[in-house]
Amino acid sequence: MGDLKGEWAGRPDEGPHSGSSVLSVWDKDPALGRVVLSVEQIAARVAELGQAITKDYAGRPPLLVGVLKGAFIFLADLARQIQLPLELDFMAVSSYGTATKTSGVVRILKDLDIDLTGRHVLIVEDILDSGLTLTYLRNSLLARGPESLAVCSLLVKRAVVPRPDLELAYVGFDIEPEFVVGYGLDVAERYRNLPDIRVYTAGEPT
Ligand code: IMP
Ligand code: MG
Repeated sequence: MGDLKGEWAGRPDEGPHSGSSVLSVWDKDPALGRVVLSVEQIAARVAELGQAITKDYAGRPPLLVGVLKGAFIFLADLARQIQLPLELDFMAVSSYGTATKTSGVVRILKDLDIDLTGRHVLIVEDILDSGLTLTYLRNSLLARGPESLAVCSLLVKRAVVPRPDLELAYVGFDIEPEFVVGYGLDVAERYRNLPDIRVYTAGEPT
């Protein structure tokens, strides 16, 4: 606690929960590039998504399936913007052989606890890049007999080659195809706690 107190001493309006400032330690990190999405932009968009989902799922509350680990912060914020008696469950999958390059191999590391039969399932993803992870997840969950299945992804990387097969019901932001970190997104398990979303510029760690 001593460190935090020193960092924000004399700045009572600023701090990790003010929404208007970000810890200066991130600004000094040479591995981080420009802010792609600010805390305020993310919060505003998450609120809009929550309203849309609340409207669309009225009378048929969804089961939100969070894809760990990257979606954990987005899911926590989104769920609180949905005014329905929803259910939550988590899956963990691994799609990356190395820190920043897709391997094409998707493994289920943790499966769902809840049975999907008859449920309105909404997959909550952090980011769609090649689409491999999502394609695999959709097929896997569709085979379990949900009443409906839709996808909400906070970020979608603009693709050179379009991905017409992937219908996304809800998208937070379309971003450039750069490697980004923060708001749950990591590089080698770091930067998940960065409050905004920034470009990671340091190249691929091994
Ligand atoms: P895809 O299978 O290529 O669509 O990759 C999706 C998964 O890769 C995401 O759920 C992330 O875990 C990870 N990923 C893709 N792009 C990024 C990025 O820019 N930053 C951090 N993780 C990413
Ligand atoms: Mg990841």
